[in-house]
Amino acid sequence: MNLELQGITKRFGSLVANDHIDLSIATGTIHALLGENGAGKTTLMNILYGLTQPDEGTILADGQPLTIHSPKNAIAARIGMVHQHFMLVPVFTVAENVTLGDEETRPLGLLDRRRMRRKVRELSERYGLRVDPDALTGDLPVGVQQRVEILKALVRDAQVLILDEPTAVLTPGETEDLFRIMRELRESGRAIVFISHKLKEVQAIADTITVLRRGRVVGERPPATSEDELAALMVGRSVQLRVAKTIAKPGRVVLEVRDLVVASGASVAVGAEEHAHVAVNGLSFRVRAGEIVGVAGVQGNGQTELCEALMGLLPVTSGSVRLEDRDITGAAPRDRLRAGIGYIPEDRQQDGLVGPFPVYENLVLDTYNRPPFASGPALKLDVIRTTAEQRVAEFDIRAQSISVPVETLSGGNQQKVILAREVGRDVKLLLASQPTRGLDVGSIEFVHRRIIEERDKGAAVVLVSSELDEIYALSDRIGIMYEGRFTGFRPPDVPVEELGLLMAGIVGADVPESGETDSPERTSRGAAAPAEPDPPGATGPADPEPPEPPEPGEPPEPGEPPEPGEPPEPGEPPEPGEPPEPGEPPERAGPDGDDPTRTLRKPT
Ligand SMILES: Nc1ncnc2c1ncn2[C@@H]1O[C@H](COP(=O)(O)OP(=O)(O)O)[C@@H](O)[C@H]1O
Ligand SMILES: [Mg+2]
Repeated sequence: MNLELQGITKRFGSLVANDHIDLSIATGTIHALLGENGAGKTTLMNILYGLTQPDEGTILADGQPLTIHSPKNAIAARIGMVHQHFMLVPVFTVAENVTLGDEETRPLGLLDRRRMRRKVRELSERYGLRVDPDALTGDLPVGVQQRVEILKALVRDAQVLILDEPTAVLTPGETEDLFRIMRELRESGRAIVFISHKLKEVQAIADTITVLRRGRVVGERPPATSEDELAALMVGRSVQLRVAKTIAKPGRVVLEVRDLVVASGASVAVGAEEHAHVAVNGLSFRVRAGEIVGVAGVQGNGQTELCEALMGLLPVTSGSVRLEDRDITGAAPRDRLRAGIGYIPEDRQQDGLVGPFPVYENLVLDTYNRPPFASGPALKLDVIRTTAEQRVAEFDIRAQSISVPVETLSGGNQQKVILAREVGRDVKLLLASQPTRGLDVGSIEFVHRRIIEERDKGAAVVLVSSELDEIYALSDRIGIMYEGRFTGFRPPDVPVEELGLLMAGIVGADVPESGETDSPERTSRGAAAPAEPDPPGATGPADPEPPEPPEPGEPPEPGEPPEPGEPPEPGEPPEPGEPPEPGEPPERAGPDGDDPTRTLRKPT
């Protein structure tokens, strides 16, 4: 099916989110929509999917005008969409989610579990969308949940599939998987609209790239177009894809973490690791004033919990955390903020902002009740507002006004609000967790520059990121996390292959390096200089621990217990011990020299 969007215009108040957009989506192609956050990509696709009504414009399907008032119309026209934030019901199984809402259009019926399961299995086999139809959706890693969303569209026979920033939540490996699926869907004659802000990705997968900027189409380019040209189109000026920084001059120790053990929160359970799970397993490291320590690792190896524990959002099981000369192991988050920690949380909607509150209030969330924003119990609204106006200008936060709810801002602008607030006061330690996730190159450049500025002003910075480009661009030292520990620390010129092995838990015996030395100077690599005895648990020379053997008594992946009350199906064999995802490597290496790369953990 060929789709033609003509003159699509959508206004939100005075803001023109889509300004007379023309777009042709051809069958059997992957069409990328590239644009900064807030460029209008989601709005345009929401219009195509019937979630938003345009103020002007028409949509043609194979030359015929198409009226789309609701997703129901879109689905009937065989248009499917996978949203940026998934819309699955976590307590439902995959099969239930896939067929949810489909009962009216097909004689399937929610109760016909067996047919649902079979259908999901068929489709997942045909397109390589590996997923267990019986798994509870909430337990699945994001990458797999995304496959469920795609299946959901395919079950409804989507011929045009819209994927809104599908890779924002994926690891490089998962992205490769998704691209393979996308190519197969293209081969099957479908059209795919791929929304992204990542230049390399659109170059790799798209047949055509349409660039949007501030609601307008600013160009259509072939995938061979250079990164610089695409970036300039997107942002409207040339951008530095990699920010400049000088050599760090580390000073006094600001953060000292010793033997930290943190149990993961209940919601982190994935597959077999459902039981209480040690997310951070005896970490020790130090961060000095004026240096950026990057924490690299595949998502789900304890990075999130490390940050949350450092912020006091997750309880510490054992070990200690010191900020300068103060033990803050048990301190409340608010006290940590007051003690000089700035925090850029991974989940900005949930932990970083109060969505319905106006931008100006979000800019002073942790300091509103103190001078200069308050005197006694009275808030000084004028001071708060003036400060907010200044921050908005300084951080180039694009909002209609400082009074609009912060949730109406695009992701990049929301992140700038957090950044402006967190570095707007003096911080000794900046904890930045996935600070540019989902941001466009323009915003990334900005956030990176500000983080380096904080370092240069003397802050100690802990940067947690699953984007290796970001780790390389910012870190003065790189700590690699695997299964709750550091498998090593490396200088920022470490080859990516070595980093990859450390991320997979493979610790080369020939590359010892201490996590941190007492002198700011690094010990020479490979010289096996005696690692500092202090802190005792620091990642010593060649992490002495071999990869853990499977714990006795813990079966690798027990088959899901049968659902209570549901008799085993007569037709299908019970599939004992079936892993959630057929074909997926086990989480741990087999005892006998499995391919080392296969030990990579599934991200959560
Ligand atoms: N429901 C809404 N109300 C007000 N403004 C909105 C709404 N949805 C989107 N916008 C605004 O429209 C612009 C385009 O947003 P969006 O389409 O989400 O951009 P993109 O997907 O390219 O990041 C942004 O400035 C955003 O704040
Ligand atoms: Mg969007």
